[in-house]
Amino acid sequence: MALKKVKKKDFISTQDWDKEELDELLKLTKDVKLNPKKYRNSLDGKSICMFFYNPSTRTRNSTQVAAYQLGMQPIFNSIKDSWIGYKSESVKDTAIVLSRYYDAIGIRLFPNSVNWKYKEGNRILREFAKWSDTPIINFEDDQFHPLQALTDIFTIQEKKKETKGKKVVISWAYHPKPLPLSVPNSILLITTRYGMNVTLAHPKNFELDDEIINFAKGNAEKSGGSLTMSNDIKEAYNGADVVYVKSWGSRKHYGNAKDEKPLRVPYRDEWCIKEKYFNFANSDSVFMHCLPIRRNIVAEDALIDGKHSIVYDQAENRLYTAKALLYYLLKEK
Ligand code: CP
Repeated sequence: MALKKVKKKDFISTQDWDKEELDELLKLTKDVKLNPKKYRNSLDGKSICMFFYNPSTRTRNSTQVAAYQLGMQPIFNSIKDSWIGYKSESVKDTAIVLSRYYDAIGIRLFPNSVNWKYKEGNRILREFAKWSDTPIINFEDDQFHPLQALTDIFTIQEKKKETKGKKVVISWAYHPKPLPLSVPNSILLITTRYGMNVTLAHPKNFELDDEIINFAKGNAEKSGGSLTMSNDIKEAYNGADVVYVKSWGSRKHYGNAKDEKPLRVPYRDEWCIKEKYFNFANSDSVFMHCLPIRRNIVAEDALIDGKHSIVYDQAENRLYTAKALLYYLLKEK
C-alpha cells in the first residue's frame, strides 16, 4: 500500500488528526489485518520507548507484539525506570534525549499519576511532543485514549459495514471507583466524527466535560450525525445498533473519591448493564467495552458472554491498529 510521506506526527487525540488521515489509518488497519506478511519486519531496526506510569494489559501487549511483528524493538519503561516520575528530570530534557535514541515514544499517564489535576496528563504528553523529534503516542492519558478510539471505530466499521446513520449509545455503567474520562471522551469524539447518531446515556451528575461535548457537537454537524443526551436507559438504548458501555467518574468531585461515592452508589443496580436492556436495542446490536471490565458489577456475565458481545474481537483489533499506527508514523521516515 503506497503511503504519502509523513513528517513527525504525534497521536495524542484523534481530534488532532484530519478525517482523511484517520480514514487512511483505518484503511491501513484493514490491510494490516488481512495481509500480515506484507508488513512483517517492515520497520526493521526501529525502536519504540514505552512509558507506563500505570498498569496495562491490552495497550502494552498489543503495542509490543505489533512492534515485534514489524521488526521493531519495543523497550518497556515503568515509573521506577525513569527520573521524570520523581520530578528530578524535566519533561524537556527527557523528551529531547529519548527522541535521540528512539523512533517513537509511547506514554500512559493516568489521573492518579498527576494528582487528579484534570488535563495535566494530557498537558505533559503535549509537552513531550513539543520537545521530541520523534512521534509521541498517547497510550491513554487523563483526557484521551486515541488508540482505543481508533480500534473502536474500526471495529464498528467491521461489524456494521457503515457508520453513517447508525445509532451508538455511549452508556455509563456503575463501578465502585471513579474511573478516568479518557475513554468516554475519545469514543464520543470518534463516533461523532464518523456520522453516527450518538446518544450519551448516564445518570445525572455524570456529564462529560463541556469542551469535549462542544467538539462532539461540531463533529456531528460536520459529519451529518447527531448527538443527544439521556438519563434513561430504556429511552437511550431504543433502536441502538451499538451499545458502548464504560464507567467514568463524576466531574463534580473529580479526584475526590470519598465525596464522589454517594453520587454513584444509588445507580449500582440499575446501571449494572444487563442483557435484557438489549431488548430495547436492535436485534443485531452489538455490546462493546474496552476492557478491563468488572464482571457482574459493570455488566452482567450473561451480556459479556452473550450473543451481542464483541468485546474480544474489539480487544483483538488493538493489535492491528497499533501495527497500522506504527507503520503509518514510521515507514516513510
Ligand atoms: N483498553 C485498554 O486500554 O486496556 P489496558 O488498560 O489493559 O491497556
